[in-house]
Parts: sequence; structure tokens; C-alpha cells
Amino acid sequence: MANTVVPLKHRVAAAAGTAPRESLKIVIVGHVDHGKSTLIGRLLYDTNSLPEEKIRAVEEVSRKRGKPVEWAFLLDAFQAERDQGITIDSSRIGFRTDRRDYVIIDAPGHKEFIANMVSGAASADAALLVIDAHEGVREQSRRHGYLLNMLGIQQVAVIVNKMDQEDFSLTRFKEVEREIADYLSSIGVTPTFIIPVSARGGQNIANRAGEMPWYTGVTVLSALDTFTPRPAAAQQDLRMPVQDVYKFDDRRIIVGRIETGTLHVGDKVLFSPSNKLQTVKSIEAWNEDAPLLNATAGQTVGFTLGEQIFVERGDIVSHPDAAPFETNVFKAHLFWLGRNPLEVGKIYTMKLATARREVIVERIEKLINTDTLEQNEGSSVERHGIAEVVVRTRRGMIALDEYRTVPSLGRFVLLDGFDVVGGGIVSMDGYPDQRSMVTVKSTNITPVDYAITREMREQQTGHKGGVLWLTGLSGAGKSTLAVGLEKELFRRGYHVYVLDGDNVRAGLNSNLGFSPEDRAENIRRVGEVAGLFAQAGIIVITAFISPYRTDRDRAREAAGEQFHEIYVASDLATCESRDIKGLYAKARRGEIPEFTGISAPYEAPIAPELLVDTQTQTVEECVASLADYVAQSFRLKN
Ligand code: ADX
Repeated sequence: MANTVVPLKHRVAAAAGTAPRESLKIVIVGHVDHGKSTLIGRLLYDTNSLPEEKIRAVEEVSRKRGKPVEWAFLLDAFQAERDQGITIDSSRIGFRTDRRDYVIIDAPGHKEFIANMVSGAASADAALLVIDAHEGVREQSRRHGYLLNMLGIQQVAVIVNKMDQEDFSLTRFKEVEREIADYLSSIGVTPTFIIPVSARGGQNIANRAGEMPWYTGVTVLSALDTFTPRPAAAQQDLRMPVQDVYKFDDRRIIVGRIETGTLHVGDKVLFSPSNKLQTVKSIEAWNEDAPLLNATAGQTVGFTLGEQIFVERGDIVSHPDAAPFETNVFKAHLFWLGRNPLEVGKIYTMKLATARREVIVERIEKLINTDTLEQNEGSSVERHGIAEVVVRTRRGMIALDEYRTVPSLGRFVLLDGFDVVGGGIVSMDGYPDQRSMVTVKSTNITPVDYAITREMREQQTGHKGGVLWLTGLSGAGKSTLAVGLEKELFRRGYHVYVLDGDNVRAGLNSNLGFSPEDRAENIRRVGEVAGLFAQAGIIVITAFISPYRTDRDRAREAAGEQFHEIYVASDLATCESRDIKGLYAKARRGEIPEFTGISAPYEAPIAPELLVDTQTQTVEECVASLADYVAQSFRLKN
């Protein structure tokens, strides 16, 4: 049974001992009809990568259509083969230079190649962006340029094609060169090369063009030869998404492909998001004489653990000191592919590595117009639109990485039913790693039973204990209302106490700053403390920005049933105009990084128990409505 699990093909290849030639994966993008296919055909032809009969077929088709040899027809031929299912893997066409092999990923006739790149079905080391010398920069030239940057492909050569139709004019080349360089620099990209060519005639593809003596730069092929493959995945942190767990005999074998890093027998490994630690006992090597002692990026392996724990498909295996993020909310740069526009709040299925989760797109932060680079607000994203969004899982945590550090675990696709409707890349900007929030370190704990019950305390004070959790932007009025309410409740005979952000941060939480993780820990501690106050029979009013919904939910859990979320509502402009502490002005000057509302997120409550609007109501009115609310919710009814 064991040998039915996973064939370790790569190992066999490696064992054969032939050092593979270096290969570089390139993608060729550009506006429709600007000459991608012709360029590919010409690259294949000039590098002698075409079988004789293919060349003859193209010549024949061109002749029949009464045209000079047209290399774009070559790709029609490839496409036809693919349509008929003849070629095994015609989505990967390759050629070689003296230096190395090239694979053109997903190019010819494939309309959705960008989608494949965003979704990770294909990933390129470098790109050629083709622009028609006559038409200049067009909509897709810009969109593709934007996407290359978004996907972190920094090695880009711009190919200004069809120079023959512009009489190989230096003036025209300069115009197009300026136009594209300006656009790319506005999105932070510096193209490594901008090369004038005629793909049809072959000028500056493999050979320098006599027609353009003014051009002294490299040809397309020599430009490609200067690019470098992405750094070896084996040297990065270990990431292995679990594909499956096979059970036989009394053993469980955890199977998956190592995306990055290296796994050794004896390693302590962490499973995320379940957060369990175990030791690797053996690495299973089917079709191998000796057991493996380690396995590395690119290999699909199975391994067993020292002790059996529950592991499931979708878990990520890492080393404990270099673990992925654990979160239920993150930011994404999303490329929308669905026929129907993206709907905020609708449930989609997210596939990230081997995990599948129900998620909602909670908010569209920016709609990006790649033509003008305008950023607009919006409530939906149309097909082929790009947006920055906030994604939230419906239940539980997910393990992931930021795309910029581990691309394979920082990208995802969204499904609507069975259809892929979007591809996105992950950023944790402004959001905390919640791993420490769910990691319990204490062991051998036995809580004692208290002698004084909640009821006894309530009988003594005449009211319940509980938490009034004030949340809102800085300057919304939380502290003012907390202090005002405390005074009023005290006057009415309640046992009441205020926990205020600035005060608690001077003591209990003086070791915490304003990073997303520190804020989460700030709120975790205050939530626990407030819960203790509530148990002690006291009404505790907390005044913390508490910007993350998940943290407030955790505080609610810590407090038990008497938790009341109160949204102190005031919009950013109003808070900023008040600016009592002068912090907004400082934040705008860039003197306070990660300032809530300016450069750090605030997630308003969705269904607070009470909302007080400090923009339309006076402090007295707000305090009165809060005090009434307390009387209703906390007074014992008898
Ligand atoms: S929270 O985000 O962790 O809940 P908390 O309510 O404790 O914040 O503290 C907010 C107070 O800290 C603000 O009222 C302000 O006085 C001060 N402060 C200092 N730096 C920041 C910042 N970067 N963002 C928000 N508030 C800040």
C-alpha cells in the first residue's frame, strides 16, 4: 500500500545525475495585436527551435494567404493543436540560447494568461512587454505593466515592435520610449531595457538591425540573457501545505509538496493554523532504497510524526521560529475575472495553497484605474478590474504569508461555485499576526472555585457586573464619555470603573506600542482585565480605539454575557478637526506612523449594542443615553 502514495519523480531525475541546464521562465504581455505572437514565432525561429515541418507549414499558410512569412501563424498552429488535444503541453513553448533554456509560459492565443499568473498557475521570472510603435501605449499595455509590478516581476524588457512600419524612425521610438517609461515609473517600475524591433522582419530580435544604426543597445535575446532566475526556493523558510494524510497500519503519513525551504528528520515542525508542534520522525521515500533524511523545495514527500496529532489538508507545515501569519482578515490586491462583478459581503470560496475557506470581501478600499492610475472608492469591481480589498474568513483562522515574501502562500483565487472569479495577492499591511492570540503557553493549570458567586455580589451591589466597551477613532469622544458616564453612574450608586487607553498604556501595557500585533495584545489584556472586573461585580467602562473587530470579539468572549459594545461614532474629518491632542496633525506630517484612520485601519462595529453619535449629540445627551442604557441592562429587576 505504501508505494501507492506519491511517486517521487523529481528524486529519480536528480538521482540520474545530469546537471540540468539553467532555465528562465518568461511571459510575453501587451495590448492585443501589438505583436506578441509574431515575437514568439520569431524568437523560436531565430533560435532554431522549430522543427522543419512547422516552418514549412507557416510558409505554406502565409503563401496561401498571399502574405510574406507571418510568424504569428505559427502560434495559430500551436493553438489548433492544443484545441485538438494533440500536443501534450503546448502551453509551454521553449527555446534555448547558448546561455540557457527559456520557457514561454502560457503565451499563445491564451486570453487568460494574466489570470493564470495572478492565480499562480504560472509564474514568470521576467517579462517582455510588447508595444506597437505606431499605436504606442494602450490600455492593456498599462494594465499588463501594472500587473507585472503587482506580481513582483521586476525584470521587464519593453519591446517597441513594428518599427518597420514607422520607417525605423528614431523620433518615433523616442516618443514611445518616453510614453512607456513615464507610465512605468509612475507605478514604480524601471524597465531594464527598451528595445526597438521588428518581430516580423527579425530586426533586433537575435541579430542587430542595420536599419536602426542609431540604436546601440542589446537585442531581445541578449536582453533576456542578462536576466536572472528567482532565488532558489530551498534557501527560504520551510513551507509545506498539507495535501493529504494517508492512514495505514497504525501510521499516518502527511503528504504535500515542499514549496520552499528544507525539511529534516528530527525537525520540530509547526502546523498552522491549528498551532500544533510535533517532531518529524521519518521522511517516507517510496521507490527509494534508503529512507530520506531530508527533503527540499520542489519535492512532494510524505512524513510521519513522533506523536500522532490531528492534521488536515490545508494546514501549513513550517519551522516554529519562522512560521506563516495566522489571521482571519487580510488585505489583498485583487484582479477580478468573474462575469458578474465582485459583491461586497457575498460568500466566496478562497483557495490558498491547499486550503479552502469561505470568505467575504468585506470592503473595497480602492478601485484602481490602471489607465489613469486614479484610485476611486467603489462598491463593486467589474471584470478585469483591479482593487485593493479587505478579505475576512467566515470562520476561524487561516495560515498564509505575504506575497512579497512567500509568493506561493501569499496568493489565492476566489471561486463562485465552481468558477474562478478572482485572483489576489496577500498583504498584511495594518493587520496583526494573530498567532500569539491563540497560542496558549501555560500548562498544568487548575483553576480554583471561588467562594463568592456572581449572584452574591449582585445582591450586594444591586446591579450586575459587566463591560461597556467603547470603541471609535481617536478623538471620537471615548474618554470624555467614559469619564462623564462614570461620574453619572457613581452618582447613581453603581460600582463603576474606567479603563482608558492612555492610562492603561502608562502602566499594565507600557511595553506595547501601536504595531498591529501590539494593539491586538493591548486589547487582549484589557479584555481579560475588564472580564475580571465584571466578575468582581463592577461595571467597567473601557475607552480604547480597539480598531480590530476580531480583538473586540475576543474581549466579548473574555467578559461573558454582560459585554456591551458601544460605538462612539464620529467620522474621520470631524475627529481630525477636533484634534485635541494634536496627534492628527503630527500623523499627517508623517511624524506618527501607523496612526488609526490615517495610516492604520479602523474596523467599525457591524452590530454594536449601542451607538452614540458624537457628531450630532452633545456630551450630556450621549452620557444620558448611556446612563439610561445601563439602568435598563444592569439594574437587577425585582
Ligand atoms: S488601540 O488601537 O491599541 O486600541 P489605545 O486606545 O490603547 O489604542 O490608545 C490610543 C491612544 O494612544 C490615542 O488616543 C492617542 O492618544 C495615542 N496614540 C499614540 N499613537 C497612536 C497611534 N499610532 N494610533 C492611534 N493612537 C495613538
